[in-house]
Amino acid sequence: MTDPLHTELLEIAQEAARRAGALLRDGRPADLAVAATKSSPIDVVTEMDIAAEKLITTLIADRRPDDGFLGEEGASGDGTSGVRWVIDPLDGTVNYLYGLPTWAVSIAAEQDGETVAGVVEIPMRGESYHAVRGGGAWATGAWEGTRALACRPAPPLDQALVSTGFNYVTEVRTRQAEVAARLVPLLRDIRRGGSAAVDLCDVAAGRLDGYYERGLHPWDLAAGDLIAREAGALTGGRPGERPSHALTIAATPGVFEPLQRLLEDFEAWR
Ligand code: IPD
Ligand code: CA
Ligand code: CA
Repeated sequence: MTDPLHTELLEIAQEAARRAGALLRDGRPADLAVAATKSSPIDVVTEMDIAAEKLITTLIADRRPDDGFLGEEGASGDGTSGVRWVIDPLDGTVNYLYGLPTWAVSIAAEQDGETVAGVVEIPMRGESYHAVRGGGAWATGAWEGTRALACRPAPPLDQALVSTGFNYVTEVRTRQAEVAARLVPLLRDIRRGGSAAVDLCDVAAGRLDGYYERGLHPWDLAAGDLIAREAGALTGGRPGERPSHALTIAATPGVFEPLQRLLEDFEAWR
């Protein structure tokens, strides 16, 4: 049976993510892409980012004043309740800037350091993903009701569709491109979706066989990692480690293991 506290945290996260998603979708200036060639589009995006995080933290603090926060846009504090919220108000910033649909609001709740509830809201797909620990992973979208998520049965690695991402730091992305160049002949293909949270949900939903990336932060992966695991995916970092800044891998069992071995051989964390 699901812990009532986890259900409460999930419902708060869902409401906050829904409202922040609507703010970002409806508040995005139509000329954002055009503005990119003129003034400073990054500032507009940053303003939306900050406004979305503020909306989320205000809603949560109103309901649960003793909880802590870790948000990409600066929300921080330990709180006294043992619950901490890990928030990326806008994951997929570059897609948002260009008017591409793959961006999300990601909200996770940790209890004593373990993620117990997670929500990834993808407004332009009309989809919302959620999980509580031990309760499976679920999504609503352009289908009837709430659908249980299950990752794909594993294909042989050379037929696996695997997504990745590239860091903002030039030296890191150059190195990541080298790793991707070595991987791509060994896989069906590689995708670069532009939102780590969406990538993790796509593994959960069976739209990808796997995903890996170096350089993620806790807010990029906290909610999506729980959703992927609850859908039956394996997640980790370097062998024996949990997903981390060094390396995050999520894949269907059978793809995870060979992918992790290759990434170790290719020193994907370096
Ligand atoms: C980024 C996205 C992207 C990933 C980067 C992240 P942001 O987050 O998740 O897919 O490749 O590593 O930093 O900056 O859009 O919140
Ligand atoms: Ca992010
Ligand atoms: Ca972000």
